Amino acid sequence: MTCIELKNVTYTYPLSKTPCISHADLVIEKGKFYAVIGANGSGKTTLCNIIRGFIPEFYQGELEGSVILDGKNLNEYTLGELAPKIGYVFQNPFNQITGARDNVYEEIAYGLENLGVPVDTIRKKVEEVMEITNTVYLAKKNPFELSGGQQQRVALASVLALEPDIFVIDEPTSQLDPKETERVFDIIDRMKKMGKTIILVEHKIELIAEYADDVIVLENGCVIRSGEKHEVLSDLSLIEKGIDLPQTVLLADELQKKGISVDEKIITKEEMAQQLKNLIGR
Ligand SMILES: Nc1ncnc2c1ncn2[C@@H]1O[C@H](COP(=O)(O)OP(=O)(O)OP(=O)(O)O)[C@@H](O)[C@H]1O
Ligand SMILES: [Mg+2]
Repeated sequence: MTCIELKNVTYTYPLSKTPCISHADLVIEKGKFYAVIGANGSGKTTLCNIIRGFIPEFYQGELEGSVILDGKNLNEYTLGELAPKIGYVFQNPFNQITGARDNVYEEIAYGLENLGVPVDTIRKKVEEVMEITNTVYLAKKNPFELSGGQQQRVALASVLALEPDIFVIDEPTSQLDPKETERVFDIIDRMKKMGKTIILVEHKIELIAEYADDVIVLENGCVIRSGEKHEVLSDLSLIEKGIDLPQTVLLADELQKKGISVDEKIITKEEMAQQLKNLIGR
């Protein structure tokens, strides 16, 4: 079932002469995990802001085409109506922190408080998301005194607490170490299993290959590829466009050149191991 649809969307920032997003067509289906990739400045964050409705509301500028959420044009919703439907984790976690509360526990509870959720439920929910995001030990700290990685996890926790159906998450692991990065993907995987729709901007291609369903590739504001991850991530022509591909795709290509016939649409280590096992015949 389609939950979000972009139809011929073109967007130009105020004072900008050229569009930042051009003629984008996208269909987002409920319950699927989409990874958005593309070079710096290709328009990933802008696309997220369009989907969340911050564009044109906050950023102004000119938005052409239509963005449809659950069958209704996005401009027919107020930002307040969109907030509980689409959770948004900002690229810079500093922007997520409200500053209204002076410790992490209260910061995470803040959104629920605003919705008038009963105290007992808030406590349960906050404790649960703090556990999931490994932020329990930060409960009494000032949110502004955290490291970038800690702030990223608190930002994720405060969005998780609100339990939206759709999550737009802009580079949540940019300041995290590999272990914490895996943890974030694990959280997203759990959210997916709960039936949530996920739109994730991320550069870590091996993790995208493992966890995502579909991949959307942006180049200079244009959606140049979009589809099932094996189809998109095995497209060697993307390398010339500065897009990283999984190591196994490059290895499969090398094997092909050496006359060893393997499936080129191998995007994870596990799939490669299986192929090699089949080849060896054991
Ligand atoms: N508020 C703004 N006003 C004018 N131009 C902007 C604004 N924000 C972004 N841009 C421009 O739009 C283009 C796309 O920016 P955007 O932040 O969407 O890219 P991105 O793919 O998210 O990049 P990154 O990987 O660095 O996060 C860039 O050329 C940028 O300079
Ligand atoms: Mg960005």
